[in-house]
Amino acid sequence: MNMREKLDKIWDDISSYIVANPQELEAFRIKYLGSKGLLKELFTELKSVPNEQKRDVGQLLNNLRIKTEGLFHELKEKLSSTVTDEGTVDYYRPGNEEPIGARHPLSMVRSEIIEIFSRIGYTVSEGPEIEDDWHNFSALNFPPEHPARDMQDTFFVEKGEKEMALRTHTSSVQVRVMENSQPPIRTISPGRVYRNEAISARAHCFFHQVEGLYIDKNVSFADLKQTLLYFAKELFGEKATIRMRPSYFPFTEPSAEVDVSCTICNSKGCNVCKHTGWLEILGCGMVDPNVLEASGIDSKTYSGFAFGMGIERIAQLKYKVNDLRLYSENDVRFLNQFTSEI
Ligand code: DAH
Repeated sequence: MNMREKLDKIWDDISSYIVANPQELEAFRIKYLGSKGLLKELFTELKSVPNEQKRDVGQLLNNLRIKTEGLFHELKEKLSSTVTDEGTVDYYRPGNEEPIGARHPLSMVRSEIIEIFSRIGYTVSEGPEIEDDWHNFSALNFPPEHPARDMQDTFFVEKGEKEMALRTHTSSVQVRVMENSQPPIRTISPGRVYRNEAISARAHCFFHQVEGLYIDKNVSFADLKQTLLYFAKELFGEKATIRMRPSYFPFTEPSAEVDVSCTICNSKGCNVCKHTGWLEILGCGMVDPNVLEASGIDSKTYSGFAFGMGIERIAQLKYKVNDLRLYSENDVRFLNQFTSEI
């Protein structure tokens, strides 16, 4: 093999060399370009080449050196554009911090309400947000001319032939539960409701409610009062008390509105309770026998109570949020203020 063939063979080896990381690149440099590398060796050999060939062989060797150096820089370039090798990744560098999200205040309040009632045996039931007239109004004893059915309150939607509505309250779910099961019934129904209202700090076109229903033999108004007192104390603290004011709802008789003692001023009187010492939190009453019968429950054997509250209202009292719009604007500065374990 003459010198030219030998150098061609060496170039074949050099040019097919694969480097995957900086260590291998360094091995390449030492092997071919280092002070004890192959090229150095070849240049030393040049001394023993016959004089008349020295010029040609010297030129070939020089070419090989230039090509090898060029290849070395090319390989180096390629390596630095890939970050998968160990040498360029600093495993001790602190990671980028991921911001931790928080639960929405309405979800937190809903979970807390569910938790409080589940401790006294209430299950959770849900119903559709698009309801028919029967479940939202008629079965709940709303007379045909009742103003709540009005266009001003209710969003109506077409669904095939049938006119449907976005439910205006979660009381519709109690009808569905009674239609599908027999007492004893003890359930709460959290969910979203809709009303055709102009959006402001105090009103929104959608909000959230929790409905409660308890039906069994001999359920009395005293049971209702005691259940709601338990709830108020669990939610607002042991010192909380309640009072009931007579009211009217088509689906309960008698009906009442419930106030809780103002947790903000300890009933001394403040802006939030408008100096009355009391905060209104829910509506309730004994389920009207007409409502029981409409859903297939014998009103001679069974009686029960129902209650309904707004989740935004409770959240407003717990977190002192006075503008309803904040709950649905998804402003991260608002949401970041809430942290929770549930
Ligand atoms: N459905 C009523 C509302 O949306 C709230 C309510 C009041 C529910 C009294 C009840 C009840 O179950 O007994 O304003």
